[in-house]
Amino acid sequence: MDEHNTVDLSWDDFDEHRNPRPDENGFDTVVENAISRRGFMGGVVAFGSGAIVFGASLSGFATPAKADGHEFPFKPIQTATDHEVHVPEGYKTQVLVRYGDALFSEAQDAYPADGLISLDMSDKVFGENTDGMELFEVDGKQLIAVNSEYCNPKINLPASSEGISASADEAALLKNIQGVTVFEIADTGNGYGVVLDSPFNRRITHETEMTLAGPLAGHDLVKTNADPSGMTAKGTMNNCGSGKTLWNTYLTCEENFNGYFGTTGEEPVGEGYTRYGIGGKSRYGYELFDARYDLSKESNEPHRHGFITEIDPADPASTPIKRTALGRFKHENAEMVHASDGRIVVYLGDDERGEYLYRFVSAGVYTEGTYGGDLLNDGTLYVAKFNDDQTGEWLPLTPETTGMDVAEILCFTRMAASAAGGTTMDRPEWVAANPIKVEAYCALTNNRNRGVKPNAGGDDTSVNGPNPRETNHYGQIVRWTPAGENHAADDFAWDLYVMAGNPTVYDNQYGGSDNVNEGNMFNSPDGMAFDSTGYLWIQTDGDDDNEGDFEGQGNNQMLVGNTETGAIARFMTVPNGAEVTGLCWSADKKVAFAGIQHPGGSWPDGAGKPRSAIVAIWREDGVAIG
Ligand code: FEO
Ligand code: CA
Ligand code: CA
Ligand code: CA
Repeated sequence: MDEHNTVDLSWDDFDEHRNPRPDENGFDTVVENAISRRGFMGGVVAFGSGAIVFGASLSGFATPAKADGHEFPFKPIQTATDHEVHVPEGYKTQVLVRYGDALFSEAQDAYPADGLISLDMSDKVFGENTDGMELFEVDGKQLIAVNSEYCNPKINLPASSEGISASADEAALLKNIQGVTVFEIADTGNGYGVVLDSPFNRRITHETEMTLAGPLAGHDLVKTNADPSGMTAKGTMNNCGSGKTLWNTYLTCEENFNGYFGTTGEEPVGEGYTRYGIGGKSRYGYELFDARYDLSKESNEPHRHGFITEIDPADPASTPIKRTALGRFKHENAEMVHASDGRIVVYLGDDERGEYLYRFVSAGVYTEGTYGGDLLNDGTLYVAKFNDDQTGEWLPLTPETTGMDVAEILCFTRMAASAAGGTTMDRPEWVAANPIKVEAYCALTNNRNRGVKPNAGGDDTSVNGPNPRETNHYGQIVRWTPAGENHAADDFAWDLYVMAGNPTVYDNQYGGSDNVNEGNMFNSPDGMAFDSTGYLWIQTDGDDDNEGDFEGQGNNQMLVGNTETGAIARFMTVPNGAEVTGLCWSADKKVAFAGIQHPGGSWPDGAGKPRSAIVAIWREDGVAIG
């Protein structure tokens, strides 16, 4: 890699490039020991070790046979290495909306042949690099709220070899094509499309005014020259996964916000900067034209990002609200459930190597049919601790457990979690809660640093229960069942639903658990969602070069899992270069919508630059698919 050119790096590689951590030697634990010690040798964890504490709700899960996928309502598909989207026989796909497509009639010609959208049109079109999304029904209409996680400088700033904006206008353009889009869709008889000029259509960008809410709002840590009140932040950025509240608002999750800040002066050493990877070169050079992104001028501005932000899609005039009580870190998604004791629980992953899995529990109880936003301002954050005996507990982050005050806990949540003694994880991506059973799943996408080097806080990352493989290139999905069937309970039992791997390359744990086989193998689970029937849909964001450790795995894919039998079947493959991210269903469940982020080739147009897009997927016979 060219030492100076970072434009091609992924966000996590970019972080490690700017903030390299020393290797940590001396790990002598080998993965075979880790696995056998925990009784994993049979593949996916069978509950035969006698360690299970909540047996009743966990019974009936036998070690899956080599799943052949015949139990699914579709015929699983092969891998692919091309630049197309593939789905099973009897299914169809169609692009719903691409980067640059108009939300308003004035922008109908906004996407030119060279793919360079004008600044003027940049906030009137669908944003780039679609990610988490949710569908809302409002007054009989269907709205999608969806993230545009980041922008691709090679596409939008072709003259800039390093992705750095050369002018204020270029920076403004990049700010506009990221963030969140809300738009109405309708089935016109020819498939779903965007309803141009719908009063609900809206872009929320890096410049949109936001309210800071919760215990950190108004605190000195979030005051800036531009906002001495610390109550009014601007912009939501690097919007990754999503969530939907019980009161039908959208949760957008701010992930790699740190990469947006740089400095034109002396590099400040702000509190928490090292742990959060803040400082050094920024990705797009906003700081050259906007003091808000210049750490030498506004050292607190990064403290106003990295939150869960709530947006009301039904009210296009509403101001998004940053919910500081849910902590500040590289948020992946926000999975909200109504616990059996009436409180709200939100599961939250922090996607960085060796960071943590969290849970927010509201102080108050929620009443169905009411607006519950205020419940997200008052509650307790917890970090997950997984014990090797397949039990676990949620450790509260409080002044007593962390030595930090409440504002510090919320602003520097990672440090609080380290102090409390959480379990370092293999990059927690999406959490999905089963709608028909009290249990939840988290995709641990991969972690090449497991057993190799500590996390950014210096915490040990030796192999542990749910993260049992050193230099884990494949990832796994951990599942937990809360005690007493109450998501707000402090104790849980856990197992691994699947360990991804390549059984054609390895005949050890890197070959994956027994429900992984030559016909369904994949790497790097990331997006996850349950459909209303209880199938778990799994989206990958992994290595798609189809070589070496990944030979035979092909392009990124979407799979469907049966969480009772353990069987997993491949449903979709996406163009080479792309990850699959974001999943929701039409109100009648007859159409699924999935995001295709950073495709390669010239997908989907067949010529010109590739364009991230949402695709609609349906069964030709009209039967519901979710
Ligand atoms: Fe934006 Fe962790 O994925
Ligand atoms: Ca992701
Ligand atoms: Ca990912
Ligand atoms: Ca991504």
